[in-house]
Amino acid sequence: MTTTNTLLAVNDLHAHYGKSHILHGVTFDVGQNEVVSLLGRNGSGRSTTLKAIMGIVPPTQGSILLNDRQLAKAKSYEICRSGIAYVPEEREVFANLTVDENLRMGEQAAKKGATQWTVEDMFAYFPRLKERRNVKAGSISGGEQQMLTMCRSLLGNPLVILIDEPTEGLAPKIVSAVGECIMDLQRKNVSVVLVEQKLTIALKVSSRVCVVGHGQIVFEGTPQHLMEDEKLLADWLAV
Ligand SMILES: Nc1ncnc2c1ncn2[C@@H]1O[C@H](COP(=O)(O)OP(=O)(O)O)[C@@H](O)[C@H]1O
Ligand SMILES: [Mg+2]
Repeated sequence: MTTTNTLLAVNDLHAHYGKSHILHGVTFDVGQNEVVSLLGRNGSGRSTTLKAIMGIVPPTQGSILLNDRQLAKAKSYEICRSGIAYVPEEREVFANLTVDENLRMGEQAAKKGATQWTVEDMFAYFPRLKERRNVKAGSISGGEQQMLTMCRSLLGNPLVILIDEPTEGLAPKIVSAVGECIMDLQRKNVSVVLVEQKLTIALKVSSRVCVVGHGQIVFEGTPQHLMEDEKLLADWLAV
């Protein structure tokens, strides 16, 4: 992996749910063409980190820079328009629209420097969606809805995409298709922040991994360094 330019820099990010202090100074960055995974136990603060970056849970302290533009106080729609896409854990499809119509809803003209994706590109990744293109999104399987949500976000041509547990509940064959898609994003100039419970997938697709523990980054390094650190794995990932 060659050295990359920083695209997204998160520094000392704090977040609260009411009085509960959840993020205690999360710091990490994502370079151009990088896939960075956030790993950790359930409840460690991975999803909250993604939500805080998107302004869905407003950060109470800290800085979020996308290409040197400060987003820590920006509204979610501004963050989205500045080039960050978010695929939440919950599948979000328009149930009464067809698969194809759902995809068309996501289409936007690419900003400078971003890849222009087409609906046909999405069908090439996920032929199953092509087969189901005229079916109402409410009637396709959960796994297919997951793919659809991810594809719709990509059609907004983001610079960086935050993806929360995309392979949760998917059949093994689709899990590997999602893995392929994520690696291809990197090749096509889209950076990725991935929250992934399946360690094998995360290690395969990531250029770097961050381990989240109690709302902080407790390790940052290559997948190889992580696998060599047995104490870290035992303490923070329970493997
Ligand atoms: N909407 C919420 N209200 C209050 N507490 C929450 C909410 N969402 C998450 N939490 C708490 O915040 C902590 C971090 O959660 P989360 O970021 O979802 O963890 P992860 O994605 O790593 O499993 C957990 O202790 C969880 O119970
Ligand atoms: Mg989560």
